[in-house]
Amino acid sequence: MTSTTKVSPAQYKKLSALVYKETGIVLNEKKFELLTARLAKRMRVTKISSVPDYLSFMNTDENEFINFIDAITTNHTFFFRENSHCEYIVKTLDKSKPLKIWSAASSSGEEAYSIAVQLAENSFQFDIFASDLSNTMLKAGQRAIYPNDRVRSVPLTMLRKYFWKGTGAYKNHVKIKPEIKKLVSFGKHNLLSDSPFTESDKFDIIFCRNVMIYFDNTTRKKVVNNLFQSLKPGGYFFVGMSESLQGLQHGLTTVLPSGYIKK
Ligand SMILES: C[S@@+](CC[C@H](N)C(=O)[O-])C[C@H]1O[C@@H](n2cnc3c(N)ncnc32)[C@H](O)[C@@H]1O
Repeated sequence: MTSTTKVSPAQYKKLSALVYKETGIVLNEKKFELLTARLAKRMRVTKISSVPDYLSFMNTDENEFINFIDAITTNHTFFFRENSHCEYIVKTLDKSKPLKIWSAASSSGEEAYSIAVQLAENSFQFDIFASDLSNTMLKAGQRAIYPNDRVRSVPLTMLRKYFWKGTGAYKNHVKIKPEIKKLVSFGKHNLLSDSPFTESDKFDIIFCRNVMIYFDNTTRKKVVNNLFQSLKPGGYFFVGMSESLQGLQHGLTTVLPSGYIKK
């Protein structure tokens, strides 16, 4: 079977509009190669040999649409990434009050479990909701098995205490121990959706890091507003270190770089 993944400018425009509408992710001309590579991968998996055929299949098959969106997202993450935000929480917050935390755009769960081990280590009471758009990433988070290179920044004491070392087929991997795993639940959530949380479900802390970079200002504004609605008064909000909220109107006050409080 011969196949071509040559994407025409019109097809690229259509695909990027679809991705933008579903996820808020902006695919400009610089992302052409990336989109083509990921599209080619889906075409291989579905054994479809032409772009028009793949596009009509994706338009009619809901699962394939989900898989395509899944393939487009960038999920890079690792344990203890940009950890000063978590250190701030440990240092500043009152341990006697239970905390409800949301890791929004959690990818495969490293962010949520990193927070969990540090709060457990410091005797906080808490639970964490970890959400993402990608089904594949949510499954990885629930599985809670990670290659060793993702835990390079975890201090050895915490690594020994909260992770199992893999053996056999899982050599060079670690697994989160059940006492930490049970503190983190995973669920699908699109950041473009309105806040699904009622007053009593709102969060004390929301992390939404390293995803705003893929959005334009219109989407950032919408996402920040949605998350703001899900945050309790006095709650903390963190974005990625390269993603300040500068230029957006919001009701948050800066407490540290990329860290905010809802007064
Ligand atoms: C680079 S990862 C960030 C992971 C983690 N927060 C961190 O800082 O390491 C970005 C994640 O955002 C997710 N994402 C992108 N657009 C989204 C949307 N509209 N709603 C929910 N998640 C989204 C992707 O699936 C991806 O897993």
